[in-house]
Amino acid sequence: MCSQLAINGAKPTVPKGLHRPWPPIVQDDIDAVVTVLKRGILWGPMEEEVTGLQREFAEYIGAKHALVVNSGTAALHASVAAAGVEAGDEVILPAYTFWATAQAVLAHHGIPVFVDIEPDYMNIDPSKIEEKITDRTVALLPVHVHGLCADMDPIVRIAEKHGLKVVEDAAQAAGAKYRGRNAGVLGDIAGFSLNGSKNLPAGEGGIVTTNDDELFDSARKMAMFGEKLVPKGAIRLYDAEIMGFNYRNNEMADALCRSILRRYDNLQALRRANCEYLNTQLAKIEGVRPPEQPDGYVHSWHLYKVRVYPEKLGIADVHVKRFRWAVQKALQAEGCDLFEWHNMPVPAQKIFLKRDAYGKGAPWTCGHTSAQAATMVYDPFDYPVCIDMFDRSFCIKPVYPPNDLKLMEYYIEAFTKVFDNIDEVLEFSKRIEFPAVPGEKRDI
Ligand SMILES: Cc1ncc(COP(=O)(O)O)c(C=O)c1O
Repeated sequence: MCSQLAINGAKPTVPKGLHRPWPPIVQDDIDAVVTVLKRGILWGPMEEEVTGLQREFAEYIGAKHALVVNSGTAALHASVAAAGVEAGDEVILPAYTFWATAQAVLAHHGIPVFVDIEPDYMNIDPSKIEEKITDRTVALLPVHVHGLCADMDPIVRIAEKHGLKVVEDAAQAAGAKYRGRNAGVLGDIAGFSLNGSKNLPAGEGGIVTTNDDELFDSARKMAMFGEKLVPKGAIRLYDAEIMGFNYRNNEMADALCRSILRRYDNLQALRRANCEYLNTQLAKIEGVRPPEQPDGYVHSWHLYKVRVYPEKLGIADVHVKRFRWAVQKALQAEGCDLFEWHNMPVPAQKIFLKRDAYGKGAPWTCGHTSAQAATMVYDPFDYPVCIDMFDRSFCIKPVYPPNDLKLMEYYIEAFTKVFDNIDEVLEFSKRIEFPAVPGEKRDI
């Protein structure tokens, strides 16, 4: 039989050289950075670019305060600290996220307590939060994963009922909305990432947003070595009040970010057009489930994650994970740029399996944890919805501009071809290898 798929030697579907990198840099961006270099002021917590970005981003999302820092992780750490987390306190977060969410908790010697995701939108499952609350819980830390807001109404209700703070991990969610309000003002305090992969990039950087004056002051102190920021021109006191860090960003990165923010709505519209086209077309292919945007939400489409359902094709004799790997490899052979964005829940990572962040088992053994936290066991298979999602999913990478519908059409052609020739993929699935994940207990 003549093979149809590139895994068996046929011509790949997506022509070489079509993919374009993110972010598209324009002359205005270059001019913005050069202006800083010519000005010669490269850093400082109250200089033109950092204060400009703080003002403009706060205005963009409708927050009272924005604090620019040098990474999303720093933004989350400063937010967790401002929320009042102390050594041994517990913070509840989803098992599916980038591990920096948990790192922000550990960085303040808090104990991350993970919750499974809900099956449709891949965000934290609000119905599973309350069972994890103890008298040591201080904050909930929902993540707007992929750029789709977590279901914040029930989360905020739970927080109010138990007297907890809500810290949003909005790292992927610049411009995302939930019931008419922007990510970043849906809880008490939030952290955004500006790293080079993000929709609103600065190269590296992060932003804390809040409507609360006290939380803002605490986060700012954290980002400034634990010192109170004195007004521009006043004498610095050099008097650390708390354990703080140098989380300041630099003027070149902030200038670039301001320049991109000026055309952000347009960049988002182009990204949205690509994703909505993929959503419509992929939904027509039996066995493929594109990501969804529920009513009342605006997705930022930072990551575009597709799930596959062999059972919908009447395929029952191959493990879903093996099937997904075979589909993924077949699409990659067709020229599609795909990636996994994690393959196991965060608590599967070694630091949690061995429960040791700082040596000697700290912070779990620091003496300030509850007895329950001191003996807590992190088992990746305690999060079955997460595991199922990882088994059957992968991300399509180049949904960002300047890639456009022309490239997306080739991707749909590749998906159609692969699913039209699923017998070839099934045959291929028997001979592929894929990486083992930590703690894997299953025969795949
Ligand atoms: C969900 C999430 N949280 C936190 C971060 C950390 O951001 P950064 O890489 O800017 O430190 C990222 C991005 O890397 C992220 O995707």
